[in-house]
Amino acid sequence: MSPQTPFPRDIPLPLPAPEPLLIVLLVIAFLAHLLFVNLMLGGSLLTVFYEWRGLRKPAYDELAHEIAKTVTVNKSLAVVLGVAPLLLINVLYTIYFYTANSLTGLAWIMLIPTITLAFVLTYLHKYSWEAMRHHKRLHLGIGICASGLFLLIPFVFLANATLMLFPDRWFSIQGFLSALSVPSVLPRYFHFLLASLGVSGLALVGYFRREQYDFEAHLPGLNRQEILKQGYTLTLGASCLQFLAGPLVMVTLPSHGFSAAMLGSIGLGILAALPALWLIWKELQSPLPGKRFIQIGGLLSLTVLLMVSGRHLYRETALASHKHQMQIRTASYERQVQTAAAEAKAAEAAEASLPLPELGAKTFQQNCAGCHAAQTKLVGPPMTEMVKIYGSKPADFKAWVQSPGKKRPDYPQMPAFPQLSEKQLEGLAVYVLNSKH
Ligand code: HEC
Repeated sequence: MSPQTPFPRDIPLPLPAPEPLLIVLLVIAFLAHLLFVNLMLGGSLLTVFYEWRGLRKPAYDELAHEIAKTVTVNKSLAVVLGVAPLLLINVLYTIYFYTANSLTGLAWIMLIPTITLAFVLTYLHKYSWEAMRHHKRLHLGIGICASGLFLLIPFVFLANATLMLFPDRWFSIQGFLSALSVPSVLPRYFHFLLASLGVSGLALVGYFRREQYDFEAHLPGLNRQEILKQGYTLTLGASCLQFLAGPLVMVTLPSHGFSAAMLGSIGLGILAALPALWLIWKELQSPLPGKRFIQIGGLLSLTVLLMVSGRHLYRETALASHKHQMQIRTASYERQVQTAAAEAKAAEAAEASLPLPELGAKTFQQNCAGCHAAQTKLVGPPMTEMVKIYGSKPADFKAWVQSPGKKRPDYPQMPAFPQLSEKQLEGLAVYVLNSKH
C-alpha cells in the first residue's frame, strides 16, 4: 500500500448473514450469471458469423437464425441472474464497489442506454429475419451493431471489477478511459471473450447433438456432424488461446494478491481442462462426434468453477491489508465517537447537579442573552417586562419559551426553544422571574 492509498471508514453495519455463506453464494450466483453472459455474447457473435457465411452458402443462414433465437433467451437469463451477484458484491465489498462505480461514473451510467440499445437491436435482428430476407446486408449490419455493443459492455464491468482490486490507484484514476489503462483490464477482457467463445462452441454442440432435434428438417443442406465439429473446433481453439490469455492476466495482476490457495485453485482448473481438451480432440477425429459431450462439459464446468474460485481468492488476498487498515480507521473513529458521547454525558450530569438559579443563569446566557437584557429593549423586551407579565405564572412563562406566539406588532417573532429540558426551563423561570433586575 502506498502512502497515497485512501483508507475510508467501513460502514458500521453487521453483515446480514455469515461472511463465508455470502462468499459461497457470490461465487455460485456469479457463475450462473457469467454462463449466460458468455452464451449471450458468444451466441451473438456466432449468429453474425453464420449469417455472413450464409451470404454465400444460404444453408448457414438458417443456422444463424436458429442461434439468434437462443440469444434473446440467454440475454434475459443473464440479466435476471445478474441481480444476485450485484447485490452480494454490494454487501460484501460495499466501499470498493461504490468507489469503483463512482470513479467510472459516466460509463457506468451509460451502461443503461447501451444495454437497452443492444437488446432492442438483438430483438430487431431476430424478428426481422423473414421480413428483411431481401435486404440481407442491412439485416446483417443490425446484427453486427448489436454484437459490437455486446463487445463494448464488458469493458465497463471489467474496469470496475479491476478498480476494486487497486485502492492505491483510486487517486490517479480519472474516469473510465483511465481505468482501462490499469494493466490487467485488457488481458482480462480477452480472457473473458475467449471464455464466451469456448462456452458458445460447446453450447452449439450440446444444442445440435440432441436426438430429438430433427436436424435435417430444420437445417436442410447442412451436415450435423460437420456443425458439431465446428462447435468443438471453436471451443478447442478458444481454450488453447486461454493458455496465452491466462498467463497474461496473471503477470499483469500485482503479485500481492497471489496466495497458495489461489494458485492451487487455478492450477487444478488447468488440470481439469487438459483431459477435456484431449476429449474434444478425440471427438474431432471421430466420424460421429457428440458422444463425449457430457464428460467434456463436466470437466470444463469444473475448470470454470476453479478459475472463478481462484479469482475470488485473489481478490480476498489483494484486499486483505487494505481491509485491515480500514478496520483500524473504523475502530479509531468508533473510539472517538464513544469519547465524545461520554464527554457530552459528563457535561450533562455536571449541569444537572447545578442549583436551579445557577442553571437558569447559565441557560439564559447561552440562549436568551442575545435578544434580551435586564432593563433595556434589545431584539426582544427586557427582563423587567417579563417579570411584570409572568411574575406569578411560571408555567405560562415556560409555555411561551417552548412555543412563543406573536404578540407585539413592533417586534419580530421570537424563535421557539423546544430543545430545553424541563429542568432548564424551571431554572430559567427561577432566574428570570425571581431576580430583582
Ligand atoms: C432571536 C431573539 C430572541 C431570543 C434568542 C429570545 N427571545 Fe424572547 N423574545 C424575542 C422577541 C422579539 C419577543 C417579542 C415577541 C412578540 O411580542 O411577539 C420576545 C418575547 C419574550 C417574552 C415575552 C413574552 C410575552 O408574553 O410577552 C419572554 C418571556 C421571552 N421572550 C423569553 C425568552 C427566553 C427565556 C429566551 C431564552 C430561552 C428568549 N426569550 C430568547 C426575541 C428573542
